Amino acid sequence: MNLDFNQIVPSIPFIMGGIWVTLKFVSVSLIIGLILGTFLAILKIGKVKVLVILSDIYTSIFRGTPLILQLSIIYFATPQLIDYNISAYEAGVLTFGLNSAAYISEIIRAGIQAVDKGQKEAAEALGIPYNQMMLKIILPQAFRNILPALFNEFITLTKESAIVSVIGVMDILRRSQVVASNTFAYFEPLLIAGVIYYVLVMALTLLGKLLERRLKRSD
Ligand code: ARG
Repeated sequence: MNLDFNQIVPSIPFIMGGIWVTLKFVSVSLIIGLILGTFLAILKIGKVKVLVILSDIYTSIFRGTPLILQLSIIYFATPQLIDYNISAYEAGVLTFGLNSAAYISEIIRAGIQAVDKGQKEAAEALGIPYNQMMLKIILPQAFRNILPALFNEFITLTKESAIVSVIGVMDILRRSQVVASNTFAYFEPLLIAGVIYYVLVMALTLLGKLLERRLKRSD
């Protein structure tokens, strides 16, 4: 056994600095995913067959291939196609946003379709216009069904975000690897990274539960 936590104590603030990098990274990706995912979900429940098929293909591709492959294509292969030197952070956010959109579009589509048919029929019988029915009746109910799954996606992205360390984004994992290679001690910094991820995920889980409980109460 050769563990010495004392020698990496000075590096702890450096590793903790990755929390903001990771949280910012995940939040920006999630926002891109939400915007694009909502758009795709609208296409999926729409009546234009071609668009339904195209958005299904989109989802199937992004869910059917490894995230790390998508990241590698966007980071390493884009410079071959377009004249733009994409940074690791941009490539990461773009990949995670596009990937997450595939998952989020399914969450939203399922959430909207899970709202009881009777709600739509009643609104139509009352002569409520489509847009108003969607905004005031269907979407608020769908949102409540969707929220737990969206929170799950947030948590998944937080853990998956560690993948961007392979292209050099200075997130929690990458920082702990830097400390490891500087001190020649791997166990301690990686353990610290693990604890940080765990605490983050637990905090998000708790937040999700609280939100869910509040929504239930307002039922
Ligand atoms: N690790 C898996 C992969 O490589 C899961 C990706 C999950 N992505 C998501 N947005 N939920 O494909």
